[in-house]
Amino acid sequence: MKSFDKTEDFKLDLPRRPRRMRRTASLRAMAQETYVRVEDLIAPLIVKEAGEKEPVGSMPGLYRLNIEGLVAECRELADLGVPAVAIFPNMDPDLKDALGSEAGNPDTLTLRAVKAIKAAVPEISVITDVALDPYTTHGHDGVLNEDGSYVMNDETVRRLCEMAVLQAEAGVDIVAPSDMMDGRVGAIRAALDTCGHIDTAIMAYSAKFASAYYGPYREAVGSAKAAGTTLLGKETYQMNPANRREAIMDALMDEEEGADFVMVKPAGAYLDIIRELRDASEVTVAAYQVSGEYAQIHAAAKLGWLDYEKTRDESLLAIKRAGADVILTYFAKEVATKLKG
Ligand code: PBG
Repeated sequence: MKSFDKTEDFKLDLPRRPRRMRRTASLRAMAQETYVRVEDLIAPLIVKEAGEKEPVGSMPGLYRLNIEGLVAECRELADLGVPAVAIFPNMDPDLKDALGSEAGNPDTLTLRAVKAIKAAVPEISVITDVALDPYTTHGHDGVLNEDGSYVMNDETVRRLCEMAVLQAEAGVDIVAPSDMMDGRVGAIRAALDTCGHIDTAIMAYSAKFASAYYGPYREAVGSAKAAGTTLLGKETYQMNPANRREAIMDALMDEEEGADFVMVKPAGAYLDIIRELRDASEVTVAAYQVSGEYAQIHAAAKLGWLDYEKTRDESLLAIKRAGADVILTYFAKEVATKLKG
């Protein structure tokens, strides 16, 4: 290199100038590596028994819908090209008990909602949560032992198998165990197959972290106070946010047990896990951009501290770039509308 002479023209001798490909919109378009497509989006929806649609305070734009409202929402999403919805029930507290007995009711809210959607909007794939937390008074995802100090694994898995079979009978396309019990994917696969539901897919919440980002959702489905008693926290089954190897191990176990999708949840703070799992797994990788991630963007935008649309779009693009094939996101409808427009 020449020494610096301020009287001379300053020219770098660079064979490679990455900025060449950033100069115009058309060059940038050709160079773009990652896209968020409408086919990548899954809309989580919250269903309630009756009454008008109710807003969820910490999740602007999200409503608890009755079955009729839910079906109408699915119609709109399908028309926008959104391939799937994930249904979560907001249960009447009177139906909850310590065992989550209502989860075994063949006519429970979720199952009626599924039948209504499949009758009216057959082209949209329906995903249902397989976990006991909406049905238990204590808010845990499983059955507790006698003194309430432990969620019993195998007893819980047995209940999950029962739930998954009921959901398959109701016409669900994909069952999604979100409980983080050991061995549940294999047990659910076997139960479904034994009952003739060989084509019901499993989306495993494989790397579900014990995260503070679930806060707004617990308000939305009414498990807020219940989520974890003082005696027992969800970190006895959900994963430690500090652990990367364990996340990959658990996801590959789910894949071996027959998972058709493996999921990372939350998404935005776990992009490294998404990438590593995309590289390690053969099946479709899902990422769940959870309630707290959604609320965070809304809150900052409301304060005027972030640009809402740009931050929203960047958050989804980052999840795609990290390696997610599909994204569960409360932004699904809005982004699908924008992509269509
Ligand atoms: C539990 C469940 C959770 C979410 C969906 N199902 C987490 C929890 O309460 O532990 C969170 C979803 C979100 O935050 O958007 N089965």
